Amino acid sequence: MSNERGSWGSKIGLILAMAGNAVGLGNFWRFPYMAASNGGGAFLIPYFVALILVGVPLMFVEWNLGRFGGRRGHGTLGAMVYIQAREGINPRAAAVIGALCGMLAFSVTVLVNSYYNHIVGWALGYSFLSATGKYMSSSVDTVNLFVNFIGTPALSFTFWIIALVLLGIAVMRGVEKGIEAWARIMMPVLYILGFVLIIRALTLGAPNAAHPDWTPIAGLNYLWQPDFDKISFNTLLSACGQVFFTLSLGMGIICNYASYLKSNDDIVLSGISTVSLNEFAEVILGGTIVIPIAYAFGGAEGLGQGVGLSFMALPNIFRSMGGGQIFGTIWFLILFFAGFTSAIAMYNYLVALLEEDLSVARKYGAWIIFGLYILVGLPVGLEPVFYPGNTFYLDELDAWVGTYLLVVLGFIEISVAGWLMRNKAFEEINKGSYWKIPKWFFNLFIQFLTPIFLIIVLISSTIEKFQKGYFKWIPTFVADKPESIMWVQMARGVMLLILILGFTEAYRSIKANYGKELEINKVSTKN
Ligand code: PHE
Repeated sequence: MSNERGSWGSKIGLILAMAGNAVGLGNFWRFPYMAASNGGGAFLIPYFVALILVGVPLMFVEWNLGRFGGRRGHGTLGAMVYIQAREGINPRAAAVIGALCGMLAFSVTVLVNSYYNHIVGWALGYSFLSATGKYMSSSVDTVNLFVNFIGTPALSFTFWIIALVLLGIAVMRGVEKGIEAWARIMMPVLYILGFVLIIRALTLGAPNAAHPDWTPIAGLNYLWQPDFDKISFNTLLSACGQVFFTLSLGMGIICNYASYLKSNDDIVLSGISTVSLNEFAEVILGGTIVIPIAYAFGGAEGLGQGVGLSFMALPNIFRSMGGGQIFGTIWFLILFFAGFTSAIAMYNYLVALLEEDLSVARKYGAWIIFGLYILVGLPVGLEPVFYPGNTFYLDELDAWVGTYLLVVLGFIEISVAGWLMRNKAFEEINKGSYWKIPKWFFNLFIQFLTPIFLIIVLISSTIEKFQKGYFKWIPTFVADKPESIMWVQMARGVMLLILILGFTEAYRSIKANYGKELEINKVSTKN
């Protein structure tokens, strides 16, 4: 079986594909508003703490899981985690842990992508609207323009489906000819376009005559001047969520890409390269484009637009900025490329699952998953059509699968590596690596600090969700919006269904591969 699995064509291709996986909407769409709404300079310190404490150790752990599993023919989390967990506990208990992880990864790749694909479609649509100058001269303000865009199926559905077809074609062609080939083009172009926009952002001067102190540099100060007074535990939680999201951790997709490695391919240096390329795109490109532009035109208040920063506030600025049509096009193309190369990773996870567990050939699997994404994407796309501007279905999914479940999966993965695989995980990470991680790093971070920190994050996020009314049958945040209750409850129903399906699928897959040893409850097929 393992011989039939695809593999990366070259080292640079692998690194670009991994960077493409990690660099996504999280870097350009989510990071700027997370940083801005958490006080700019108050955000970066907890952010870097979370990056070191969680991002880097978990990145190694996921590469280790992937390469270890891939060598035994597995590209999905159920069996991957099972074969590591059984190093420390009996097969039946290991199978439950494996199935839980398989369930979580399945749910994230189905449900996060169900809305992520839409945002990729919005970015494609807005690239088109920018290039053709459509929104430049319109008399409608950019907030309503966006509400109209996502509420008009002829626009939003068209671009969503175009994006999905392109994804389908890419995944169908396989790891090297599809995923790697697209990343090799899109990623370098993304970095180059990013530089072009940075130069434009920093040469804006003070475009708002009434506020000569609103300059791009003042915007950078807002982000880079540490503000210790405003740091709070909640900022740390948000920062941790952002690190998971941006590095694609806790979703199984880094493990899946790593499963196409050869058994001696480097993990440490490659993992660090992935983190560095992602952080460069996030903090340097994302931070230096959006924040200075928004600040120069709207001051600190201009940054407080939350989710609307990319699709509402920036288009408004492009309207009045010299060369706005070109720079607007560049901005949305960056978003599109970033989102596309991440959506491929989630898409590929599911195609790999069909391939391995149901022996469905990739060329068919790609189109089955296409159908699945249309199906699960429908409610996301339809809500704003029925209720202009509403995205409660999307928000409910995002609150659970886009952040919370990632931390749960990350916690299980690192505990399995640190406490069940123990020394073997340490050796596996270092095998074939140019740089070796020291033993103290493994003991301190992978066994102690990271899992403990993640437990604290999980407990506090649960309390926070409880207080915000996420556990109520009619959640507090829609209590006064009767038309939205149904969408939130529908999101919950779909999540439950997918979780059950994911668990069953993963358990069956483990059983199909390792049934004999599960029966006798003793490891027998080690290789
Ligand atoms: N890490 C990517 C991003 O920053 C992709 C991703 C995010 C994938 C969330 C799945 C879930 O956008």
